[in-house]
Amino acid sequence: MRTTKFGAVALLLMCATPAFAEAKDKGAQDKEVWITIGTDAQEPARAAFRAQGQELPAPAREKDGVAALRVRESQLEKLAEAMHDKLNRCAGFISHDTEAQALAAVEGSTSAQPLQTLIAYTIDNGTTANSLMSGVLESNIRSTITSLSTTWTTRRYNLQSGIDAANWLKSRWTTLANGRTDVSVALFTHPSTVSPQPSVILTIQGTTLPNEVVVLGGHLDSINGSGSSYSAPGADDDASGVASLTEVIRVAMAKGYKPARTVKFMAYAAEEIGLRGSAAIASQHKSTGVNVVGVLQLDMTNYRGSSYDIVMVSDYTNAAQNTFVRNLITQYLPGVTATSTTCGYGCSDHASWHNQGYPASMPFEALMGQDNPYIHTSSDTLTQSAGSAQNSVKFAKLAAAYVAELAKGTTTIALQPTDADTGR
Ligand code: BES
Ligand code: ZN
Repeated sequence: MRTTKFGAVALLLMCATPAFAEAKDKGAQDKEVWITIGTDAQEPARAAFRAQGQELPAPAREKDGVAALRVRESQLEKLAEAMHDKLNRCAGFISHDTEAQALAAVEGSTSAQPLQTLIAYTIDNGTTANSLMSGVLESNIRSTITSLSTTWTTRRYNLQSGIDAANWLKSRWTTLANGRTDVSVALFTHPSTVSPQPSVILTIQGTTLPNEVVVLGGHLDSINGSGSSYSAPGADDDASGVASLTEVIRVAMAKGYKPARTVKFMAYAAEEIGLRGSAAIASQHKSTGVNVVGVLQLDMTNYRGSSYDIVMVSDYTNAAQNTFVRNLITQYLPGVTATSTTCGYGCSDHASWHNQGYPASMPFEALMGQDNPYIHTSSDTLTQSAGSAQNSVKFAKLAAAYVAELAKGTTTIALQPTDADTGR
């Protein structure tokens, strides 16, 4: 399905059977039906109806982000279309046989459980994806890996140097945010018994769908398996993931990228002792009802251990989103080879999100068993990757494409030649 590198790209849709299909076949009479819909979707849906000379009725009840509406059965198809066109969602509403059932659904929504959006995975934002990908520079990724892996002996979660590294990253990301009012950087502090080291989060507020959140993360801490007094440069595990994300942030800011959905970049604390930072963050998102539509984890991207370029971890991840990520590779990274593997356990922060019911994926550097043998030792340095961050470039570009196609939105500066293209 690939067209040219920068040309129009194919549309890929993976939607469940629309809610209206069954109802439509039931008979010719246009009966009244009840639906519940996210309140954020009401206005775009209403506008789409108005554009066709029809009115969507006012909600009978609205509570905690969910509205109950009485509509005509014949309107369901148009509603599904509007949801898809305007909001990039599959049907995105639930139909109910009776008013009582619809109102009960609204009442029942008070709990933390969000009205989970079934997202439509589309690949149709090539201009933005190519603009972001073209800005990715190996030299910047290398520079961040070097800073993280050589400034401190270790980024261990319970040592001052681990806290210092978090503050350094916060300051680096704040500099990159460059005073943009729609971008914020904050420490996510944990109880000291969980992790003295805080996590770091950069948020780009979405322009049109701010309540739908796309998360990209990696872990900030490092560890030496022999004990806390040993050095743990963690150049691959996971300075490489954090550095790849930092480069996506830099490019996004340099290109004036404004996502439709809210995008959050996260550097998690205390992954190495049991996914503690990400578990706290994912749990907080769940309990406060944040609609996280997708999570991408980058943990170990700079060591070429297998003949494949990118290996998708298939356990503790979401199969539909993994397919989407594989399709992004096919579409935007021509010549980059991909396959799948399993960890066999929740081996990184994607598992924290997966365990809370959010769709997560982890593109990884090698087949299991062929990954970097130096991790968790004092030898996890950039030297093991010949002093280069070239292997991480494809992961940073994949993360850029993931942001462009899942969070959508636009850049103000188009594509430009990269160092790879020009040999710089
Ligand atoms: N980056 C590793 C995970 C990893 C290592 C994945 C090798 C694939 C191949 C991660 O930082 C880590 O060490 N995770 C722990 C598990 C965690 C729950 C403490 C591990 O794998 O032992
Ligand atoms: Zn790791």
